[in-house]
Amino acid sequence: MPPHVLSFADLSYADIIDILDTASDLKEKRARGETTDILKNKILAMLFEKSSTRTRISFEVGMSELGGHAIFLSARDMQIGRGESISDTAKVMSRYVNAIMARVYKHETLTELSKYSTIPVINALSELEHPCQLLADLMTIRERKGTLKGLKFAWFGDGNNVCNSAILACAITGMKISVACPGGYEPDNSIIAKAKELGGDVEITHEPVKAAENADILYTDVWVSMGDEEEAEQRLIDLKPYQVNSKLLEHAEHDVVVLHCLPAHRGEEITAEVIDGPNSAVFDEAENRLHAQKALLIKLLS
Ligand code: CP
Ligand code: NVA
Repeated sequence: MPPHVLSFADLSYADIIDILDTASDLKEKRARGETTDILKNKILAMLFEKSSTRTRISFEVGMSELGGHAIFLSARDMQIGRGESISDTAKVMSRYVNAIMARVYKHETLTELSKYSTIPVINALSELEHPCQLLADLMTIRERKGTLKGLKFAWFGDGNNVCNSAILACAITGMKISVACPGGYEPDNSIIAKAKELGGDVEITHEPVKAAENADILYTDVWVSMGDEEEAEQRLIDLKPYQVNSKLLEHAEHDVVVLHCLPAHRGEEITAEVIDGPNSAVFDEAENRLHAQKALLIKLLS
């Protein structure tokens, strides 16, 4: 395992399969009421510059269920919010805790944290990537489809942080990805280049129907990510043709799995009919954050 998980591409195919297998095993054991204290005396610091529901709760519950402990830290309330350097913060935190999980505005904050930490750093979302989300997504896809390799994954809307991690996840696990987005909303160039280097099959199109054609997975995310609020009005106009709705579903496979990392804006990027409909796996996906991250924590900390 790599020392830090800042990008989905920090994980190899073998790491991912190992994490998904452990996650499924942990999920079954939890359902049977079996407990473990494999991370007894281990402490995770969770540093947040942005809001969170799923990430915060799933990491905190995950550490507790593994016998360890998690500390919630709002960047606003830390000295980092008053100008203390990231390097000093990283060095100090490394003396107290066993791993740092951070949700930040700038990806460089994570790079800097990892450079000065002597403990693992986990990306809990930056403007560039959201790798923990994709672990849960792969777990959900595998549960529904029994496999990953050879599937067609279609993304609609903003080529954002979650999309970037999805492109890498598809490249590593052998899924073809088609991203339907308006001009100016394409995924990051460095991510596309990395995916291609990994042998990925990546298509970028401005036609949602083309992306949806025979897709096994339809995925969308909010049109206004945290940090993009100033452009909200324009984004809602530009991204409107990329809504995931029942008409779009007609072009996909009949057993297509609909995913959304949540939080969702029903009536914007996805209709209520689809997100609450029979093809949607979004709440399993949200639950799987817990199991997948527990598996990741075990791999990094035990
Ligand atoms: N999907 C996700 O990361 O949700 P939160 O922003 O609620 O953590
Ligand atoms: N793209 C969204 C994901 C939230 C989980 C954001 O960055 O706000």
